[in-house]
Amino acid sequence: MKFFIDTADVAAIKELDETGLVDGVTTNPSLIFKSGRDFKEVVKEICGFIDGPVSAEVASMEYEQMMKEAEVLRKLADNVCVKLPLTFDGLRACRALTNDGTKTNVTLCFSANQALLAAKAGATFVSPFIGRLDDINIDGMELIEDIRTIYDNYGFDTEILAASIRSANHVKDCALAGADVATIPPGVAKGLVKHVLTDQGLAGFERDWAATGQKII
Ligand code: E4P
Repeated sequence: MKFFIDTADVAAIKELDETGLVDGVTTNPSLIFKSGRDFKEVVKEICGFIDGPVSAEVASMEYEQMMKEAEVLRKLADNVCVKLPLTFDGLRACRALTNDGTKTNVTLCFSANQALLAAKAGATFVSPFIGRLDDINIDGMELIEDIRTIYDNYGFDTEILAASIRSANHVKDCALAGADVATIPPGVAKGLVKHVLTDQGLAGFERDWAATGQKII
């Protein structure tokens, strides 16, 4: 499973990228707002050091304007992936951009039928939002499983990009369910390394190493 980082915080992406963990980045209007940065400037900066897809979302709800915005966004860098809403206009824009060779990420997917439409529109990625479904007492992981089954039934190439991830268990369950990608907030990504037995083991090694009185260098 590929790891994308769900943020527009350049420092956080760089820190994780140093571990080789980062296969791509996703942004959205809320994350851009949180960053306090200029949208195009920050997307360009991220694309400058991340080789994988960097999702940048259109702001318009209407097809013609979406296409104009997509034109601006895709020119920012070769690895920009144009993010479009899961609406009729968004699907229409997805088909046109796909036909044109532009990478697309159809976002705000909350049902298997919506994911089926995104695949039929030729989306590179579909983004089902797990956490937001869990928030309203609907099992977000079940959606990932359903989409996996449907895409496999028909051999769709669209990649399942599990989004709205809130916990380490979400990441594990996405991998078990066969998501192609998980887009993970930096805090959750860093937390994946944590285990109480790793910490305890290290404390023991540190104590015993000090007792040997030796040094490696
Ligand atoms: C996906 O691309 C979105 O940016 C993101 O995962 C939304 O997550 P949230 O529900 O935590 O806002």
